[in-house]
Amino acid sequence: MSVFAVVTAAGSGQRLGADMPKALVPLEGRTLVERAVEGVQLVGVDGIIVTAPESHLTQFETMFASDPTVLVVPGGSVRQLSVYNALQQLPALAKRLGTPLDNTTPILIHDAARCLTPSKVINGVIDALRGGLTAVIPALPVTDTQKIVEEGPTSGIEKVAGQVDRSLLRAVQTPQGFHWHTISNAHRAGFERLQNTGVEATDDAGLVEALGGDVHITSGSPLSMKITTKIDLVVASQLLTRKDLMESLLDS
Ligand code: CTP
Ligand code: MG
Repeated sequence: MSVFAVVTAAGSGQRLGADMPKALVPLEGRTLVERAVEGVQLVGVDGIIVTAPESHLTQFETMFASDPTVLVVPGGSVRQLSVYNALQQLPALAKRLGTPLDNTTPILIHDAARCLTPSKVINGVIDALRGGLTAVIPALPVTDTQKIVEEGPTSGIEKVAGQVDRSLLRAVQTPQGFHWHTISNAHRAGFERLQNTGVEATDDAGLVEALGGDVHITSGSPLSMKITTKIDLVVASQLLTRKDLMESLLDS
């Protein structure tokens, strides 16, 4: 049974503030995007589409030139458009590789920024999709108490308006996984909504939810942390140099 993946790497990485796109930042000698691509290849994905910033397209193409299972495509102005572009190229990649792509083929959508995601998490998503679920996302329980604030400026002192029940909250990670039929329909509808109303989904599962589809949650991992700011890069780098730490977190 075939599996495909989209690895999103077309962001600029503003919050990280490096002098290059975030996916090209080296982490213990290898770029985030190389690590993320290898992560999905480890579980036996058949074909991968990487979204790259227009400005660095050639650099990405050169990086994956020797691997016929990886196709690099230009990303869009927002993540949702990057994924939409990638999904549009998927049938052509499947055809070129001679790998079947049908309505229930699992499609993983993974952020290059979550480049330390363990195989166990990725396999958990694939297994749930093969078991018949159509939209599956890995997540972790939220550990901090959560407050709702009154609307208004987001800097300075804010006023608390309420509290939510933390036990029902989950912090969502990637790879998010979907049957091909489910995600291609959801992204087509999401694209039209974005064009017509400017409303952007913050994750791919949100597009499925907007159509009334069911989304299920599998176990995430602290190692699937998203590299967003400098402190995340420091933590990720420490994890890679401390094998004992990495192993203890693999089991948590
Ligand atoms: N991404 C993408 N296309 C975009 C924006 C983001 O493919 N137009 C990708 C990023 O490369 C990243 C993932 O989506 O792997 C999650 O986005 P985020 O962590 O927000 O990365 P950036 O957008 O690059 O960072 P920032 O928001 O700080 O600029
Ligand atoms: Mg972003």
